[in-house]
Amino acid sequence: MLEIINAQKTFLKGTPNEHQALKNLSLTLEDGDFTTIVGSNGAGKSTLFGAVCGNFMLDAGGVILDRKDIIFMPEHKRARMIGRVFQDPMKGTAPHMTIEENLALAYSRNRKNPLGFAIRKKDSDMFREYLSRFSMGLEDRMDAKVGLLSGGQRQVVTLLMCTMVAPKLLLLDEHTAALDPATAEKVMNITKEIVAEQKLTTMMITHNLKSALTTGNRLLMLDSGEIILDVKGEEKDKLTLDGIMKLYSQKKKKELDNDRMLLN
Ligand SMILES: Nc1ncnc2c1ncn2[C@@H]1O[C@H](COP(=O)(O)OP(=O)(O)OP(=O)(O)O)[C@@H](O)[C@H]1O
Ligand SMILES: [Mg+2]
Repeated sequence: MLEIINAQKTFLKGTPNEHQALKNLSLTLEDGDFTTIVGSNGAGKSTLFGAVCGNFMLDAGGVILDRKDIIFMPEHKRARMIGRVFQDPMKGTAPHMTIEENLALAYSRNRKNPLGFAIRKKDSDMFREYLSRFSMGLEDRMDAKVGLLSGGQRQVVTLLMCTMVAPKLLLLDEHTAALDPATAEKVMNITKEIVAEQKLTTMMITHNLKSALTTGNRLLMLDSGEIILDVKGEEKDKLTLDGIMKLYSQKKKKELDNDRMLLN
């Protein structure tokens, strides 16, 4: 379970560029919740993830993960509990290392007593088996340097690195946005498969409203550092693109500015 309590964050305080990115934001995710997050550019979506991962200190508020207060836990320690995939396929993997080495590194990080960096045959077989499930042919390229892979293939490797040992929380920050539509769909399907299989508590930021509507059991909309929409379960299942736009205009007394929000 994740609990964010009255999170507040202002960047560049006391300067002309001062910006309140999170305004007293509270959110509770139940175990196994798969929440999609939408909102315009600058709404505070990535900042919310940054607050959970400990990229910066909040000005006020708390974060509880798996019943632990993690507000003073350093970023690298939180990273052991939280898997995060970014929009940029270049992030998350080491390009000069092979697929197998990347997976082994991620796997050893999660072990209680890491046995150095030697890749054991047993592990190697497990990585191959795991990769083969995603029908991308990656299991036959375990010796290939990750830097040579396509963006979609790299995102899948990153996703596997984050989830091979189930994280307490999975954070996806527009992780398919840099991919062509067919690859994006494939990576989304793999994502859904992994999340469902491991029942991972997940938050996924997307600008694709349709994808936000058809994925997960809950949908949040952020606007100027606040949650302005929170629909779950059946209510979410029934929600349509029109519905979401209506709810937005009721709330904000203006039309939804779909700058980067893709409507289909
Ligand atoms: N480290 C930082 N220093 C200063 N300002 C920041 C910093 N990080 C974020 N901001 C500002 O906080 C606001 C929220 O940014 P954030 O990256 O969370 O938006 P977002 O909802 O993820 O937008 P996008 O859809 O464009 O990714 C923006 O105005 C941004 O410029
Ligand atoms: Mg962002």
